[in-house]
Amino acid sequence: MTDYLFFAVFPYVALAVAVGGGVYRYSRERFSFSSLSSQFLDNRVLFWGSVAWHYGIVLILLAHLVALLFPGFWGRLLGDPLRLAAIEATGLALGLFTLAGLVVLLLRRIASPKAWAVATVMDLLLLAALLLQVATGLYNALVYRWGSLWYLSLAVPWLHSLACLNPDIKYIVPLPLMIKVHLVNAFLLLLLFPVTRLVHIVSIPISYLWRPWQVAVWNKRPIGS
Ligand code: HEM
Repeated sequence: MTDYLFFAVFPYVALAVAVGGGVYRYSRERFSFSSLSSQFLDNRVLFWGSVAWHYGIVLILLAHLVALLFPGFWGRLLGDPLRLAAIEATGLALGLFTLAGLVVLLLRRIASPKAWAVATVMDLLLLAALLLQVATGLYNALVYRWGSLWYLSLAVPWLHSLACLNPDIKYIVPLPLMIKVHLVNAFLLLLLFPVTRLVHIVSIPISYLWRPWQVAVWNKRPIGS
């Protein structure tokens, strides 16, 4: 019953809150789609923590996504033991890099009185959920070898069954607790998306890639001419 609630019901609740909350927030508070930068507080620490965190997590999530969307391709890629070892080692290295970035960002938030003063309860909850996600991801990658392979045979069919609105939890029920925590917490992060700074993900200005170019024309004479 608990498994059914966590793996067949909760994912839809999280998705509904993410979409509904995101649309509501966009229509009511469009200009709050931001990570509310506190860059002015400590530039250097923030820079290194932020770079490690963002590069690491984006690449890891990209690997999660490619395996989910192209399981045949991912399976062929992992078919060779050397490539499997290389991909797993890269995942681990990126995971450690990501964890280091997140810990730096967390310590900065806690240690700097100014950054602490502007932190909300939701910020701290989000940071804790992200830390749990990265830590359980690394733990599972280290303890339950080879994660990139059982991801294909267990997590992908479950996620596909959710996408087809026909949840099938038989793949998930026998899994160890730490893997289950990683899966449930992934959907908790989705749920937190519209009510935390995570919402800034959808404000990345990717329209820069296809919008017409602009010409900036100065409206005043350069000094001295
Ligand atoms: C339901 C969605 C998810 C599933 C099924 C899933 C599954 C997995 C699996 C099987 C691994 C082990 C990979 C390996 O051994 O190489 C892993 C690792 C990891 N996951 Fe997830 N994950 C999910 C969502 C997320 C999310 C949302 C995040 C981050 C916000 C995340 C972050 C990580 C990290 C940092 C690692 C360790 C890096 C690595 O070794 O690959 N995961 N995940």
